[in-house]
Order: sequence, then structure tokens, then C-alpha cells
Amino acid sequence: MLVGMERSRSARAPGRVNLIGEHVDYAGGSALPLAIGQGSRVRWVKTAEALTAFSSFDHRRISLARPQEDDPSWAAIVAKASALTGCDQGRLEIDGDLPIGAGLSSSTSLAVALVLALGGAMKEDDLIAASWECEQALGTPTGFLDQQAIVAGKKGQCVLVDFSTMKRRLVSLDPQLQLYVIHSGIERELLNSPYAQRRAEVHEAEDLLGPLPHADRVSARSLSDATLSKRALHVLEECERVHVAAAALEDGDLKTFGGLLNESHASLRDLFEVSLVKIDQLVEDLQGKAGVLGARLMGGGFGGCILAASSRELDFGTDLTWWKVEAAAGASVHED
Ligand code: GLA
Repeated sequence: MLVGMERSRSARAPGRVNLIGEHVDYAGGSALPLAIGQGSRVRWVKTAEALTAFSSFDHRRISLARPQEDDPSWAAIVAKASALTGCDQGRLEIDGDLPIGAGLSSSTSLAVALVLALGGAMKEDDLIAASWECEQALGTPTGFLDQQAIVAGKKGQCVLVDFSTMKRRLVSLDPQLQLYVIHSGIERELLNSPYAQRRAEVHEAEDLLGPLPHADRVSARSLSDATLSKRALHVLEECERVHVAAAALEDGDLKTFGGLLNESHASLRDLFEVSLVKIDQLVEDLQGKAGVLGARLMGGGFGGCILAASSRELDFGTDLTWWKVEAAAGASVHED
């Protein structure tokens, strides 16, 4: 093969951090995610053979023409991306520096990079829709939070997304704000978590109260089903926090912003019940650390990462796995 003559396309998609607005995307609420510097890369090389893919994350290889029972779960994303883009020939090389299963959206990042590598450049909203569809192949009914950040993120800015209209507005981050992601030590896999159950509870509460971000607090409190009442209160209060947080960021009021992260964690723990005792303990420790303005569980819950905010450089030591993250550009693709 004449390697120098190969036609290929390279795509890159970041991971994401969600500042605030957890478990509200599928309820038509608002959130403040951002794209981070760490991400996945996919290179598609044109060949006349049926599509194959190799991932240097797990050193597994798959072939679309010869699916195996023990194929890794990402094979389903490749198959869907191939079907959606109509590209079923070639060789895919997957790599990157995004931690897997840490709650930084590694599967959405992969889905976005795959769609771009196989299909080439496309409009942001089309890419958001296509990558969301790919990820549904994994079986978890996620919302659009991760796709919005990974596709539309910009350097130095977070994305205020209103999921009832899918409209977004960029919010600049104070250069003083330092963001850290600390692994809880518990691998997160949405498929085997109660994510779908939480989502179903939110929809049950919506049937009783209407759209939860605009629900009446007194009615939410007085629902006879205590579980639905708690879920509804989380969604409506978390959406309020998102708007206060966006305003605080725009005003450079990092103290208020940090306090909102702490409130968000308490709500995820007590009202939405997606935290774990070990995570609560770690969050509490982090909240008490000098220099930390606020900390909370991030993402779907039941494991994954904790987000901590500060206005200065912090060191979380060697006992914890942690990363400093910065708002970075969203996904991109180029013909090689
Ligand atoms: C996961 C899902 C998102 C969102 C979050 C919780 O990251 O992929 O759609 O629901 O959980 O905010």
C-alpha cells in the first residue's frame, strides 16, 4: 500500500465538564457545560475493504463485516455512525487522551469524532443530532448535554444551553477561575446505573406538574409521591441555580458560583439521589480544602468525577487521580 498516497480524514472531539445543571437536559431545563482540552481522535483512512476500527484506548479491533459477540461496546457506536454517514469502507484509528468511564463523556466524544471522521464537516446541530443517535445505540436514554458542549464548546467559554429550545449562548469564563476534575475512584457506566429510572421519574413528575423547570414550587413540594416530589424539586431548583451561576460568572463573582456548586451537590445527594456515600465524603473533604470555592458530583452520578472550582492553583496530591481542565474548542475535522 502506498501510505503516502492514502486519502484520510482526521477528527478530534473533546470531552466535557458540566459546571452546573445536572439531570435537567432531558427535562427541558438549562445547563452550563464546556468542552475540555482532553479528547478523542479518530482518523479514517480510505480503503476498498469493509470498515474496520482499532482503538488504542483498549487495544481492541473490530470489523463491521464480521461482528463478534465479545466486541467492545464502542463497536455499536461505530456501526451506527457508519450507517448514518453512509460510509462503510475504510480503516478507523481511534486514540486520544480522554479518561474512559470517568464521567467526562468519553462515549459522546467518540461518537462525535466518529461521525466527523466518517462523514466530514457538517452543521453543528446536525452533528449534535447524529452523535446523539449514535450513542443511543449503547442503550442509555441520555439527553443532549454532552453533545452540545463537545460540538459547540469554545476556548475560554462555557455554553449556556436551554434544552427546551436547544438554543445556546456562550458565557465567558473569568480567567481567574480554575477548574479541577477529581476521580471518585468509582468507574461510572450509565447503562448499569439507575439513570433510566431517574429519567422515567422525571417524566412521571412532568405528567403531574408540566415542564419541571417552570413548575410551581409549592405544587412540587406537595406531590403525594415523595420520590417524585424530590425529583421535581431538584430539577426546578437546579435550573434556577444554572441561571444564577451564569450571571455570577458574567459578574466575576466566583464565590457565589462556588456556593452554587455546593448547593447542586446537596440536591443531587438528597433530592435526586444519584450520589454514593463514598462520593459525598470526598465532596465534603474537597469543599473543606483551602482554596476550594465549591465542589460537586458531576455527570450522571453513581461514580465518575467530582468538579471543584477555585480562584487559584491547587494541588490535590498523589492519592487522588485528578486533572486540571480548561474550556477548549469544540470538535473539528480536516482532510489530511
Ligand atoms: C449524562 C448524560 C447527560 C446528562 C447527564 C446528567 O452525562 O449523558 O445527557 O443527563 O448525565 O446531567
